[in-house]
Amino acid sequence: MSAKIISGRAVADEIRAELRERVAELREESGVTPGLATVLVGDDPASHQYVGMKNKAAGAMGIHSRQVTLPADTPEAELLGLVAGLNADPEIHGILVQLPLPPHIDEGKVIEAIHPSKDVDGLHPMSVGRLATDSGHFFAPCTPAGIVEMLIRSGFDPAGKHVVVLGRSNLVGRPLASLLLRKDRGGNATVTVCHSRTRDLGTVTRTADILVAAMGRAEAITGHMVRPGAVVIDVGTNRVDDPGSEKGYRVCGDVLFDEVVEVAAAISPVPGGVGPMTITMLLSNTLKSAALAAADAVGAAR
Ligand SMILES: NC(=O)c1ccc[n+]([C@@H]2O[C@H](COP(=O)([O-])OP(=O)(O)OC[C@H]3O[C@@H](n4cnc5c(N)ncnc54)[C@H](OP(=O)(O)O)[C@@H]3O)[C@@H](O)[C@H]2O)c1
Repeated sequence: MSAKIISGRAVADEIRAELRERVAELREESGVTPGLATVLVGDDPASHQYVGMKNKAAGAMGIHSRQVTLPADTPEAELLGLVAGLNADPEIHGILVQLPLPPHIDEGKVIEAIHPSKDVDGLHPMSVGRLATDSGHFFAPCTPAGIVEMLIRSGFDPAGKHVVVLGRSNLVGRPLASLLLRKDRGGNATVTVCHSRTRDLGTVTRTADILVAAMGRAEAITGHMVRPGAVVIDVGTNRVDDPGSEKGYRVCGDVLFDEVVEVAAAISPVPGGVGPMTITMLLSNTLKSAALAAADAVGAAR
């Protein structure tokens, strides 16, 4: 029997409709329009495309977006100065510096320069630490947050489930494991994290109630690696040669869809799965940041 398809696009549309309403409410109640600054250094076409998509989606939500594009040879000090200016700008509630940065710029230094209250990408060490210790206010990184939200809204709450996460990157695997372990909505799962040194991967993946593949290995997860009835989330975004197609390549996930769809109870496709959720969570974090700033302003005026 074929699995249910978890449409990230449909879930993202549902959340975006809610966000649009909340943005309008915030503006009406407090006069605050959420503001997102995107900073792009260099001319990597994929980065330009991602930033363009983020700004377009922000505009459609009624979120003010400001794109700053700098040449590839921008000195690190100039970029740090720009970030400091955005930190101090009351019209900006979220700052996103598109990665990767050119090699002469220390990415860690730039991420640490973003004020944690505007760290809507959730990559600042303060955000990471608060997420890992499940304490205080923080913004969750957008892709893991999107995965959790997509699971919940599709009827697959991770609480009490064994979730196997494939990948331990700082962008996806690790923060996802931290989110799933929280004593909060979307958490309370039993989590196993695998990586390239995990032995006999199939034995581990077959124990998963929910399997999340974030390895960047095209179609590596085959049908026999999945327990019948499991829920499978495919984060992978891989380009593989496809001489028969117009572009000469196709985009696929880490999961061999045609096999796994016959074994799993539910599966998210690539494209149309996790991708649309990632941008949506960035907008959600920007709105949260603006709402907190508006509440702080009310508190200060009292
Ligand atoms: N749709 C979206 O919005 C979105 C967002 C972010 C990422 N992605 C996609 O998700 C994938 C992962 O991204 P990432 O940034 O996390 O990648 P990454 O930094 O390259 O990390 C990949 C992780 O997978 C592990 N791994 C690699 N081969 C493996 C194998 N054969 N068995 C088990 N584990 C293996 C690596 O292990 P080691 O640590 O041992 O090297 C590493 O922890 C990529 O395809 C990326 O394009 C999609």
